[in-house]
Amino acid sequence: MKFTLDYKKYKETAIQAVAEGQVLLKNEGDVLPLKKGCTVAVFGRIQTHYYKSGTGSGGMVNVNRVVGITDALLEQEEKDGSVKVYRPLYETYREWEKTNPFDEGVGWGNDPWSQKEMPLTDKQVTDAASHADLALVIIGRSAGEDRDNSAEEGSFLLTAGERDMLKKVRAGFDRVAVILNVGNIIDMNFVEEYKIDAVLYAWQGGMLGGYGTAAVLTGAVNPSGALSDTIARSITDYPSHQNFGDPEEAVYAEDIFVGYRYFETFARDKVLYPFGYGLSYTDFDVTCKKASLSKKTVTSDTSVILECKVKNIGKTPGKKPVMIYVKAPNGKLGKPSRVLVSFQKTGELAPGREQTLSFHIPFYDFASFDETGKCGLGTGSVVEKGVYEFYVGQDVRSAVCSAAIEISEDAMLHPYENALGPVKPFKRMTAVSSGNRITLKYEDTPLRKDTMTERRKKRLPVSRPITKDHGYTLLDVKKGRIPMEEFIAQFTEEELTTIIRGEGMGSSQVTPGTASAFGGISPALKSHGIPVGCMDDGPSGMRLDSGVKAFSLPNGTLLACTFNAPLVESLYHFLGIEMLKNNVDVILGPGMNIHRHPLNGRNFEYFSEDPVLTGQMGLAQFRALQKAHVTGALKHFSCNNQETGRQKIDPVVSERALREIYLKGYEIAVRGGADSVMTTYCRLNGTWTSGNYDLNTTILRDEWGFEGIVMTDWWANISDENGENSKTNFAAMVRAQNDLYMCVPGALDDIGDNALSSLKEGSLTLGELQRTAKNVCTFLMKYAPFIRAYEEEIKVEVKNAEEGFESGPLKIEYQKIGTTGTIDLSKVKVKKNDDWYFGIDLQELGDYEVTLTGCGKAGNELAQFSTVLFVHVLPACSFSFRGTGEWAKDTQMLRFLNKMNIMHFHFTLDGLSLKELHFKKVGELHQ
Ligand code: BGC
Repeated sequence: MKFTLDYKKYKETAIQAVAEGQVLLKNEGDVLPLKKGCTVAVFGRIQTHYYKSGTGSGGMVNVNRVVGITDALLEQEEKDGSVKVYRPLYETYREWEKTNPFDEGVGWGNDPWSQKEMPLTDKQVTDAASHADLALVIIGRSAGEDRDNSAEEGSFLLTAGERDMLKKVRAGFDRVAVILNVGNIIDMNFVEEYKIDAVLYAWQGGMLGGYGTAAVLTGAVNPSGALSDTIARSITDYPSHQNFGDPEEAVYAEDIFVGYRYFETFARDKVLYPFGYGLSYTDFDVTCKKASLSKKTVTSDTSVILECKVKNIGKTPGKKPVMIYVKAPNGKLGKPSRVLVSFQKTGELAPGREQTLSFHIPFYDFASFDETGKCGLGTGSVVEKGVYEFYVGQDVRSAVCSAAIEISEDAMLHPYENALGPVKPFKRMTAVSSGNRITLKYEDTPLRKDTMTERRKKRLPVSRPITKDHGYTLLDVKKGRIPMEEFIAQFTEEELTTIIRGEGMGSSQVTPGTASAFGGISPALKSHGIPVGCMDDGPSGMRLDSGVKAFSLPNGTLLACTFNAPLVESLYHFLGIEMLKNNVDVILGPGMNIHRHPLNGRNFEYFSEDPVLTGQMGLAQFRALQKAHVTGALKHFSCNNQETGRQKIDPVVSERALREIYLKGYEIAVRGGADSVMTTYCRLNGTWTSGNYDLNTTILRDEWGFEGIVMTDWWANISDENGENSKTNFAAMVRAQNDLYMCVPGALDDIGDNALSSLKEGSLTLGELQRTAKNVCTFLMKYAPFIRAYEEEIKVEVKNAEEGFESGPLKIEYQKIGTTGTIDLSKVKVKKNDDWYFGIDLQELGDYEVTLTGCGKAGNELAQFSTVLFVHVLPACSFSFRGTGEWAKDTQMLRFLNKMNIMHFHFTLDGLSLKELHFKKVGELHQ
């Protein structure tokens, strides 16, 4: 099997995606695109440090370079002089940065949200204004895993330094454009306050993001991005605001009225920029033919068919996203005034050209979930009688009613059982009609009636007696020689309780520096012919903690703003091939959580406040990866909508809001073929998601037909209904059909989990363990690990290699370290800016004294020769030696949570000699 990874095309597609995800919110006086040959003065320190992504596991793609917006403009200047950057100002920023270095923060989740801004003198501004035609002000923000944004200055709000910069630049320049290099939306009142002429959301575009933004600034690409979230006037306007940020509990009182669903129904005045908003350098005319139905009766497979003509009526070629929103009748169930049901983007249309877009919209996609039985049809997806209006256009506010269909009877499209509902009483928002008016009211939320425990007990899978080992392998199953059940029946109890484990992080059984190995991770499992699969973070490129370079892609929010699922699909196909090249089989993404609130730190990894956009984007990524025989894991299932308290928080959510909003995107992707899911660290309606039967079995598998694997988040707590939660409650996980615990240090390590003991005392059945083994094996059979093991070699030919990307998987030798151990460093050649890699295989986790023996070159006793030791790719500690020419020892403390660790020294200077690195265990690791 042969694949070609053409980096030239990979890069072009990524840059195209970035360009298409740029959202132009304002462009007064046609300030943009930049006129040919014009000079721009770039303000803001972020011009020298582009945020390629947010932080945490999703932001740790190890790249060879990052191209920021100014870098790209400078390159353009060099290439054809079509734009010039005013150098003295640029040099001033670079000079200032020497004494005001960029603050990376220390450790995990501690990167600051923003950076100190360079104070501007009036002279700097007037000087720049007299040489430049326009000011570009770049403002950046970071946030991410374990770190929500906050409604403070420097996060959601501008800092005093940034406001001062805007004030001065506004006073000095006739034309000012602001570019936001951010993962989340921020407060936008500054646009009015400082009368900014043009505003562009550039988002976080991955390692080549600057090129995409520059292409829009120069007009090489006409902007066609559209907001995937509503921007309200104030953070307090968001309906979830009162119930966001508490570490213990989040009551989703706004129910289905998330984002524009709330604003368009109840609070239109509070919107600054509506969902879907985004300007172009040209104009389009969109007209629709009459809508029709695919068949006369309304059933689950009836669709509304709409045909729209889009014509470029301006002077510049461009693309246009077209969105269809439905206004369903407000009946027994309260409904939002608009719901996005479908979208497509045109191809590039030259002025005067037009394109017809056809939309087939299944009724199921805009049905309501009735968990109350109010419609008299039982529980499930219903459409109520009345007139359904279809609004066509781009943003939710300006889309015009283009078709209407009347349904004469209420119809049940799909009955479902009540599952996963809340156990805690609360009042939820609803829309009540009186005459023509819709009023916001609160009503009691229906509570869960049946227990998940009872449901599980009624549906236990058959336990097959364990047979002797007949020597059947997974290949025999694939070849149809034996059924999967017979194959699994050969597994001993020990094997069944091993296959539920993932080994990591940094397992030596798979590509170094990845998140986990799974499947055939023990000799016994291997003897059944089960290959080992490799999982790795995601979602915006591979996180290879080994130091191997990987491609970093634009982030989720940016991709959603493209409204171009086929483009996202083509981009992720390159990632799929890059994964093949690195023997990575599952990328831990896409991130599918809903932007319930703008301050969620991980919004950058997720797509949107809308589930249809989320589902379509996630599905596009899956399709692409699967074409390369690899796949992705939808995460974090579900309601991981804030980082504060993410290990324990309990989101309290109605069943309707779950089905219509928070699970909907997952449902779209799963029904489209997605086959791997990661649960959250937290609870959902009282029960930890990792042990949640309704989530992982009743809904995911029984309702949506999912036939893949579910994994926990890394070192998650597990518990089932009413149970005690712990990291070792593997039985609860298997009962729920969450198949894999992520992760244990070594496949066969005794970590005190309760799988085997629960099997022996009967609270976990053999059938449940066999079912999980089946899920894991069936999954592996479909992908690259199986192909490599049994079918054929997978070759990846690299074309137009990106510098530093050629290497493929790193080969690391792991040295075993007991409670003490020494790594010989006498052969290491220390060279400035070089890295030296090694691996350790710790026999015991815990706290270690780590002592480096080194010697600084003689000459100056005050000279400092330091080196930073990285564990995986995170800086862990630094060692320092004086220029004495004598051997010395420097000791630091390190806590090891992983057995297999890829480490490296980074050298800041030549002239340091090293002898050895000694490890001594000094403390236990307590849970
Ligand atoms: C994150 C996941 C990630 C995993 C492995 C967790 O901390 O929540 O999104 O995939 O770590 O790195």
